[in-house]
Amino acid sequence: MNRIHIVSNRLPVNINIENDIIELIPSVGGLATGMRSVYKEYNGKWIGWPGLPSDDLDEELTGRIEQKLIEEDCVPVHLSKQEIDLYYDGFSNRTIWPLFHYFAQFIDYDHELWDAFVSVNQKFADKALETLEEGDTIWIHDYQLLLVPEMIKSKKPDVTVGFFLHIPFPSFEVFRILPWRKELIQGMLGADLIGFHTFDYQRHFCSSVRRLMGYEISFNQIHIEDRIILVDSFPMGIDYNKFRDASTQIFQRPLQEKSELHRELEKYFLISPNRKLILSIDRMDYSKGIPNRLRAFSRFLEDYPEFIGKVTLIMLAVPSRGTVEQYINLKREVDELVGTVNGKFGSINYTPVWYFYRSLPFENLIELYSSCDVALVTPVRDGMNLVAKEYVASRTNSTGVIILSEMAGVAKEMGEAIIINPNNTKEIADAINQALIMPLDEQRERMSFLQDRIKRYDVFKWSSEFVKSLKKVEKIQNSFYAK
Ligand code: ADP
Ligand code: G6P
Repeated sequence: MNRIHIVSNRLPVNINIENDIIELIPSVGGLATGMRSVYKEYNGKWIGWPGLPSDDLDEELTGRIEQKLIEEDCVPVHLSKQEIDLYYDGFSNRTIWPLFHYFAQFIDYDHELWDAFVSVNQKFADKALETLEEGDTIWIHDYQLLLVPEMIKSKKPDVTVGFFLHIPFPSFEVFRILPWRKELIQGMLGADLIGFHTFDYQRHFCSSVRRLMGYEISFNQIHIEDRIILVDSFPMGIDYNKFRDASTQIFQRPLQEKSELHRELEKYFLISPNRKLILSIDRMDYSKGIPNRLRAFSRFLEDYPEFIGKVTLIMLAVPSRGTVEQYINLKREVDELVGTVNGKFGSINYTPVWYFYRSLPFENLIELYSSCDVALVTPVRDGMNLVAKEYVASRTNSTGVIILSEMAGVAKEMGEAIIINPNNTKEIADAINQALIMPLDEQRERMSFLQDRIKRYDVFKWSSEFVKSLKKVEKIQNSFYAK
């Protein structure tokens, strides 16, 4: 098969330099976890940013970093502090991210950020063009690189280009707010195949294409003069067996081989038949609805006081985009809310919320997924949410309940979860009670359906469907040109 190169803002590993030693740290986030499992199948390179500013790197260190990354089939795009500030923190995370997640009040409209976005997208496109050889295909990912498809297509019209958006595409009425809306659409239309997690995002995108550009769209094909572009939805899956096997293995270990986290949980009687654990895992991001979740947990303890002392919320928030103002404010708000709930309902031997603001190793993640009775997933907007799927895969005994926001893309595939509106505190509080008293038979019935579905459409299936569609679009275009 032809090689497929991946292009995304962040590489699957970040570089960390400690005492002149280069360490590779796995990147957090759905794109990285998902693609990490599949990209080696395509024999191509992964082109992206290694996560640190290039200003302080001398030639020798840059060479060593590149060597280390080549061993992982990764090709770095180096970004300076200024580029990180204006393109990554700036246009990507202060303009597009809030716009696409319907946080219009947070959007920064700044021409300087836009200019940096264009020039850094060109940098990624140039690196991809340098890497391309005859017959190779390119698969570009996510909102930070919306202009790259067109930048590649304009230089190499014969290369097949795929693009997948990992976040929601907003409704036209929201998208039109942006001064650079046409340029973004134009950039995406450089791809031959454009993929979204859900049909709704696809529909919103097509509506923007029609209304802003006036192009004709029939079924899921966009017709532009001499080209046909395919648009489709591909709900991203997870590496199901990896989570299931890790969970099985961890629980077979004797106590002395269990991790410190697990032993701590047991020591504080958190893993015991008389205690229930609720799990919350996200990047610290305002789209994830973390404050809503804490308010709902507080309301739950107020409305169902029989659970005080018996239920603990384990909340893992992974630091993310910590130099952007809204993320700094969010962290402060969450810290305060955790303090408020613990102050109100806690006692010497009861801490209602166990809060971790850090990244945890994969093993601990699995322990949390498999030890917690309920997963509370309440984003106010989320393209997909892989955490919900990972929880399902890790439940080897098929018990456990998911409370899931209707605003997450994953809700479309998880009708057996308890579906809530993330802005309805009372509804979430009642859902927590419902989850905690749900009979085991009902839990198993719901969970088995979820497991069958999530297992069937895993990340390998997802990527192979996308690649199949790329081949299909090549064929459609060839027959179109032949006419
Ligand atoms: P997003 O992509 O917006 O961050 P997702 O829920 O889709 O949200 O994906 C988050 C991914 O990050 C999951 O695959 C999850 O396993 C991973 N992750 C979350 N927390 C951690 C952590 N503490 N350490 C390692 N990986 C994590
Ligand atoms: C989401 C985005 C990814 C991004 C990830 C982590 O999953 O869709 O593109 O990589 O968040 O965010 P970060 O800004 O740290 O790369």
